[in-house]
Amino acid sequence: MRDFKGKTAVVTGAASGIGRAMCDVFADAGMNIVMADVEAPLLEAACGEIVERGHEAIAVVTDVSDAEQVERLAAKAQERFGAVHVVCNNAGVFTGGLTWEVPVKEYDWLLKVNVWGVIHGIRTFVPLLAKQDCEAHIVNTASMAAVTTMPYVGAYHMTKHAVLALSESLYHELTLSGSKIKVSVLCPEEVATRIGAAERNRPAELTEHGDYEASPERAAVFDAMKALEDGGLDPRVLAERTLAGIRDDRFYILSEDKWRETANIRLEDVRQGRNPTFAPPV
Ligand SMILES: NC(=O)c1ccc[n+]([C@@H]2O[C@H](COP(=O)([O-])OP(=O)(O)OC[C@H]3O[C@@H](n4cnc5c(N)ncnc54)[C@H](O)[C@@H]3O)[C@@H](O)[C@H]2O)c1
Repeated sequence: MRDFKGKTAVVTGAASGIGRAMCDVFADAGMNIVMADVEAPLLEAACGEIVERGHEAIAVVTDVSDAEQVERLAAKAQERFGAVHVVCNNAGVFTGGLTWEVPVKEYDWLLKVNVWGVIHGIRTFVPLLAKQDCEAHIVNTASMAAVTTMPYVGAYHMTKHAVLALSESLYHELTLSGSKIKVSVLCPEEVATRIGAAERNRPAELTEHGDYEASPERAAVFDAMKALEDGGLDPRVLAERTLAGIRDDRFYILSEDKWRETANIRLEDVRQGRNPTFAPPV
């Protein structure tokens, strides 16, 4: 898609971080913006700022883990702007801890938002975009965690591996059928967002308190994630990379080189059939 003016983008996880930056960058490119997030006050405020700058934007409070809410989001987007051209399934949450200590409820929460959120986005928007029969692009936010593995973050990494696998399958299906819908997968890493405070949005019924919360492994992971808020990459860099990826029809929109090297080592482990190398990015 080379022309963005007057087109409409739907972005989930739009109240904060990468999603918020995508909305800013897409609006600056002349697009209408449909902003979706579960955190209502922040979402309304973010939308208000974009409208104040003279852009067309609406906020639709949406929990992406609920299929009906995602369908409602699509209906609202069509009702306001007529058609949808870019869909960014970006909302995501994070946790850490030893794989056998993370509670079932916490696994459930991550799967519901990170995996089911993307599934609902695909199941809702692909048929809608196909029916429109015009140029369209879906961007699923995975992570460099989709192509690497690390200790103490297994619950998060497995969800991102799932998003990548689903996105690659979707790419093949749309390509083989000659569809006008294109797909990208965004793989950020170490971005200055509030992902380290993702628990702020965890529903009470998926919350379990206990000893695991105080484990040193979990604490180390959260300390590293919280440090990103000030020391990470500007989310706007990822948002601009996303816009360029859509323009150039690039499937893999990747993060910095040091994470690619870690991914290469993992792929080489698989290729050679050797045991996993612990190779954190340096
Ligand atoms: N920050 C990073 O370094 C990094 C690295 C790799 C991947 N990612 C991915 O980028 C995406 C965006 O995260 P971010 O870093 O901007 O974090 P963020 O916490 O700043 O933004 C995530 C947004 O998702 C929203 N959200 C959470 N649960 C939701 C739900 N059920 N329904 C709708 N919205 C919901 C939050 O309210 C928040 O506004 C996520 O998928 C995350 O996994 C981030």
